[in-house]
Amino acid sequence: MIATTNTKPLDDVSLDTNSTSSMNGESFNDSPASSVSSGSIDTNHKSWMDSEIIEPHVGYKKVLVTGGAGFIGSHVAEELLARGDDVVIIDEINDYYDVRIKESNLKQLQDAYPEKGRVTIYRGDICDRDLMEKIFMNENPKWICHMAARAGVRPSIQDPFIYIHSNITATTLLMELSHKYGVENFVFASSSSVYGGSKSAFFSEDEVVDYPVSPYAASKKTCELLAYTYHHLYQLNVTGLRFFTVYGPGGRPDMAPFKFIDRVSRGVEMQQYGDGSSSRDYTYIDDIVDGVIRSIDRQHNYEVFNLGKGEGTSLKKFIGLVQKHVGKKAIIELLPDQPGDVPYTCADVAKAKHMLGYTSLIPFEEGIRRTAEWYKKTYAVDDNEAEIVEQEIIRSPVSKLEIMTVV
Ligand SMILES: NC(=O)c1ccc[n+]([C@@H]2O[C@H](COP(=O)([O-])OP(=O)(O)OC[C@H]3O[C@@H](n4cnc5c(N)ncnc54)[C@H](O)[C@@H]3O)[C@@H](O)[C@H]2O)c1
Repeated sequence: MIATTNTKPLDDVSLDTNSTSSMNGESFNDSPASSVSSGSIDTNHKSWMDSEIIEPHVGYKKVLVTGGAGFIGSHVAEELLARGDDVVIIDEINDYYDVRIKESNLKQLQDAYPEKGRVTIYRGDICDRDLMEKIFMNENPKWICHMAARAGVRPSIQDPFIYIHSNITATTLLMELSHKYGVENFVFASSSSVYGGSKSAFFSEDEVVDYPVSPYAASKKTCELLAYTYHHLYQLNVTGLRFFTVYGPGGRPDMAPFKFIDRVSRGVEMQQYGDGSSSRDYTYIDDIVDGVIRSIDRQHNYEVFNLGKGEGTSLKKFIGLVQKHVGKKAIIELLPDQPGDVPYTCADVAKAKHMLGYTSLIPFEEGIRRTAEWYKKTYAVDDNEAEIVEQEIIRSPVSKLEIMTVV
């Protein structure tokens, strides 16, 4: 069934992608100080092409993963543990979405690696200086994977201050402590949102990103600037990763891939803006984890990388694949294009390929198939059941977690 109306509120395709406004594409070097230049992009020569290729550090690491209860952090932690590294997680387990999902992520890690010292979990705010100081003293992590943040574009417009706190203050404190305790490499999550109002079809790290269009985007851009400052002042090795809409098993319930699969599975109406030809870059979680770990292993002085699929998928194709792999027809409400929507946005991943050896390996259809399969196993009563209770998000029981609240 297809209903048509123009009156419903916005319920966007991806809540972690960009809205748009005008912005010029200008040349950009890795030094933000030199990024405020004018002139057109030399498309044949990118600033990173002459950069030194860093050999990966091999061997054991103890990695502090902030936001390790969240979607990306828990997957990175899992991969680090699987290859033999030890992981220290700090997460406040906030209720931005169902906390049982986060508790379940932590429980899975603890169940898989019960040996003492493999995965150590602290619950608390990464802006709590005393707590963080104790974690650095007790655990002495030399490798930081900073994934904790308040994510989401629209909520940041409602409450910008929590984004300043959890994104900017937190990242500054972590870099301050990383400098103080001699951290080898500091890798943090930025976002494709920094491209804000860019008119480009392919977003490149060489673009000036001085025009963030939400507090969330501004907070990530600020973290990139501060990261450069910490590198400049203290030679801290820092890498910022601009993720492009990440999806997969365990994905965030506020984002389009989860929402589409969930709504089609439950026979709930969903919104399609425009004629379905607009296209976005969706990145499967395994590819992101690979890019994050490649960055942890390479101690770059200061770099920013796009981590995306490097290829767009149209909304029409996206919905078609969800229907195919869920095995049900979508109920679609057709809405006009949102003002300022651009037809095609995509990550230019040439720099990550060149300097990290990163390549996105999971085709979009395969990613959606795996995500739909995971959704069925996790949420559905059975394969043919259309009705599940909205609030009953996690069906698997969450047992008591061994979390260190006092250090
Ligand atoms: N998922 C995406 O598509 C996407 C896209 C671009 C950027 N990012 C960035 O990647 C990172 C991970 O995203 P995600 O999708 O896994 O989000 P997520 O919300 O699942 O995970 C973030 C975790 O950080 C924790 N956290 C937030 N503020 C905290 C604080 N002050 N102290 C301690 N813990 C805190 C949360 O409880 C949560 O578990 C974030 O920095 C996000 O901005 C994600």
